[in-house]
Amino acid sequence: MGSAPAVLVIGGGVIGATAAWELASAGARVRLFDARRPGDGATRASAGVLAPYLEGHAASPLRELGRESLDLYDAFVARLSADSDRAIVYRRDGSLEVALTMAEAERLSAASAVLWRDGVEARWVPGAVIPDIEPNAAPDAPGALLIPMHGHVGVTSLTAAAVAGLRQHGGEVVEASGAIEVSRVPGGGVRVRSDAATWEADLAVLAAGSWSSRITVEAADPVPVRPIRGQLLQLAAAPGTVSHIVWGTAGYLVPWPDGSVLVGATVEDVGFDESATDEARLELLEMAAALVPALKHATLADVRVGLRPRGPDDLPIVGRSAAVPGLVYATAHYRSGVLLAPLTAQLVRRLVFDPSAATIPALDPARCGTL
Ligand code: GLY
Repeated sequence: MGSAPAVLVIGGGVIGATAAWELASAGARVRLFDARRPGDGATRASAGVLAPYLEGHAASPLRELGRESLDLYDAFVARLSADSDRAIVYRRDGSLEVALTMAEAERLSAASAVLWRDGVEARWVPGAVIPDIEPNAAPDAPGALLIPMHGHVGVTSLTAAAVAGLRQHGGEVVEASGAIEVSRVPGGGVRVRSDAATWEADLAVLAAGSWSSRITVEAADPVPVRPIRGQLLQLAAAPGTVSHIVWGTAGYLVPWPDGSVLVGATVEDVGFDESATDEARLELLEMAAALVPALKHATLADVRVGLRPRGPDDLPIVGRSAAVPGLVYATAHYRSGVLLAPLTAQLVRRLVFDPSAATIPALDPARCGTL
């Protein structure tokens, strides 16, 4: 391999697109291809929540990786925005986890103490003070947990910027061409076959999300990811109805710069079915109105559906393949793809450019079989 490796990136979701841009900006010759169009898979249904301590009150490898990636976000967005000359929706104005019952309040106030002990700024907000922070939150809520470092990113704008940045660095994007097979090239290199063409390069990155399991990798087990459907609503509401990420036990709300509110999300094990359902719409509307009653008056603007790639232990699979030298996996990000995108892109760059670099042990593909 010369100093500018040729890399095929399979999958143009938030993980594939940001990794492709990162590689191209570091000097690789990158071709990104996607079975549809970049950003049209799970990425389009993401609310972009950046909140490692909402889903992780207790310490875990996922929470620590999420925090590490969150700490990269400011610089990542600034660099990508400048490089692509694109605006990226990005806010770090905190999350409010609202307790709707006394039992939830007790759990959250205990969690705030544990988070403080772990060095995380997590403020317990008594019910009477909630209106000062989130005026339309449920009036009877007994308390809430405010975590100021959390935020959200517009995932469509982030992914579009990554694709634009990739092109600025001479990268190529091939749409409507899904990979079918990855194999080794005798003598060195990787071959990727799609239904339309075959490409060869020094390296490949498999970042096809839920569809990773459908790509045959020579002499390897299928990637053990299964699709978990998430349905998300976009509500048109009066400006200022919601001003922070508002989180509850049954779902979450994300305020959007145009005044609309994203309401997420279902977690459904229904295979490769990307349809929206009435049942989910009703469930999400009810959950939204319980957290912020004024949302009863909002109108439904859009429903988005995505398939999250879930691995066997809910941790991503990122690292070199033992079966096909030159193949790097970057998949199985499940509910944390957007949060973990900067960390994953950085890790993929190291694995591509530095033959002595090792992956993060918790993400090693070897834990998932012969990969
Ligand atoms: N990370 C948010 C979700 O999966 O719904």
